[in-house]
Amino acid sequence: MKGIILAGGHGTRLHPITIGTSKQLIPVYDKPMIYYPLSVLMLAGITDILVISAPRDRESFRRLLGDGSALGLSIGYAEQDRPRGLAEAFVIGTDHIGDDDVALVLGDNIFHGPGFSGILQENARDVNGCVLFGYPVRDPERYGVAEVDDDGNLVSLVEKPARPRSNLAITGLYFYDNDVVDIAKNLRPSSRGELEITDLNRAYLERGRARLVSLGRGFAWLDTGTHDALVEAAQYVQILEHRQGVRIACIEEIAWRMGFIGREDCHRLGTAMAGTAYGRYVMDISAAGRPAPEERA
Ligand code: DAU
Repeated sequence: MKGIILAGGHGTRLHPITIGTSKQLIPVYDKPMIYYPLSVLMLAGITDILVISAPRDRESFRRLLGDGSALGLSIGYAEQDRPRGLAEAFVIGTDHIGDDDVALVLGDNIFHGPGFSGILQENARDVNGCVLFGYPVRDPERYGVAEVDDDGNLVSLVEKPARPRSNLAITGLYFYDNDVVDIAKNLRPSSRGELEITDLNRAYLERGRARLVSLGRGFAWLDTGTHDALVEAAQYVQILEHRQGVRIACIEEIAWRMGFIGREDCHRLGTAMAGTAYGRYVMDISAAGRPAPEERA
């Protein structure tokens, strides 16, 4: 399965922070925002990843992540010259996807929860249609909203409904089979001029090929859309990291635990940042003499 991180847009709701830089590069506590969605793809077992950004930010993402080889990944870059909709990712990413299935994650989505990597790997194995991830929220009218029947089957999908039929938001993580490329190419822009991911998902739903995985209680799907939401997300990460002594979305650790790189490689990546607590954590978890990871992150 291939991966795409969509990290475009103008981040206007976070001005003035995002006047000079991409939203997905600003920090959420101790790491750039894009580390969080990147770690989701890595935990799903995906190593071939395309980062799509606005043209002005492409070099900044490349400076941060390089070609991915240090993490045992292959990372490529593409541009979206203006935000024409999330579904355009599959038009821009057509060559990258090739004949494969693909996972799309939005560059500003943060997920954290028990057993997440197992859920990801299980659902990435046999996509056959599309897999959407639902999450109950207090303010569903801000998102794509799913309606499900009593057996948990998807019944309808509506983008930002004025009167939501449920509180289940569709998160910014989507798995598709290869049909997504053709479906995306045949989409018409919506009234707001965008290729809507919800229209694409509805095309799968109408064919009876859309599956919903509900991320329930105990899961965190965090918003980064406003200044307050950004601070709250950072506080969530800080509290968990301080309390548990583990780091969320530490891509060096995940690369090692997933077997993409070896222990020494991981340690070397930590050494290069030894002046920070983050770097020392990477060094510490991969120190010689420590037990090898048995369990995946
Ligand atoms: O976060 C989940 C939600 O994402 C879903 O529930 C909605 O169904 C989906 O439409 C989307 O809603 P948003 O209102 O959050 O979309 P927004 O336009 O804010 O874009 C989300 C991120 O994607 C944002 O960081 C900017 C980036 N983006 C957006 C567009 C439209 C792009 O990179 N390119 C684009 O063309």
